[in-house]
Amino acid sequence: MTNPLNALNAETLNAWNANAEVWDKRMGDDGNDFFNILCWPALASFLDAQPDSKILDIACGNGLTTRRLAELGCTVTAFDFSANLIEYAKQRTAFHASLITYHILDATNEEQLLSLGEAKFDSALSNMALFDMAEIEPLFRTLPKLLKPGGTFVFSITHPCFNNASSMHVVEEMDDGEIKTVYSIKTSRYMTPYSMRGLALRNQPKPQVYFERPLQAYLNLAFQNGFVLDGFEERAFPPETPQTTPLGWGGKFSEIPAVIVARLRLKT
Ligand SMILES: C[S@@+](CC[C@H](N)C(=O)[O-])C[C@H]1O[C@@H](n2cnc3c(N)ncnc32)[C@H](O)[C@@H]1O
Repeated sequence: MTNPLNALNAETLNAWNANAEVWDKRMGDDGNDFFNILCWPALASFLDAQPDSKILDIACGNGLTTRRLAELGCTVTAFDFSANLIEYAKQRTAFHASLITYHILDATNEEQLLSLGEAKFDSALSNMALFDMAEIEPLFRTLPKLLKPGGTFVFSITHPCFNNASSMHVVEEMDDGEIKTVYSIKTSRYMTPYSMRGLALRNQPKPQVYFERPLQAYLNLAFQNGFVLDGFEERAFPPETPQTTPLGWGGKFSEIPAVIVARLRLKT
């Protein structure tokens, strides 16, 4: 019997190749507000990368985090399964090329992951990509082999409770002696993993597939594979952050975290 996830994985690859140009233009060299305000400060603090650290950048896109890590002096092995995105990553990497190696590789394929080398990395990083992967079990099974003993896996994901593909952004008006505008998130799906098409960027040519999982799916997989959780942040935009669209993520949703950043560490 064919695994339905294979077809979804192929569709995902196809979408990321088709959207690579738009993604590269939007993220550029410096990234967007999600990256700079929500993700990078917590990722950088959890990674605590030292010059000469060896880091694996999983699903690196156009190499945004890869270059940030190389700027800190780390040696970075980065991969993505989109050949088009890896091409953009290489084009943007002239400056730190000596510290970075890029590979085209599928994170759902254990054999391909193992080809990166065993007990080689001090840390692995995945910025906003696990929910784009049709399957994460192969990655969680393989990471303990790729990491050195005691190594860490730091990842960011959209908050599974408040920022999943079923989330609706809601604005309402109330009167409690004064008229107030209230922004909230309404969610209808959480417990059962599901996939749904969506747009990471409003002008992308092809919708991509989101693979939504409850938080316990990530954490239990990590615990089963020998990790403990030793860093965790829920990240919301500060109130002063401008809205890029009237109901998009921004300062109006400052009480609702759009992103989770976590650090897992291999038990020694
Ligand atoms: C939202 S982008 C994030 C890219 C990058 N980490 C960043 O921070 O800009 C998600 C990435 O996951 C990659 N991806 C999805 N499934 C993958 C898989 N099975 N193997 C490798 N990369 C995958 C996509 O090609 C895309 O580059």
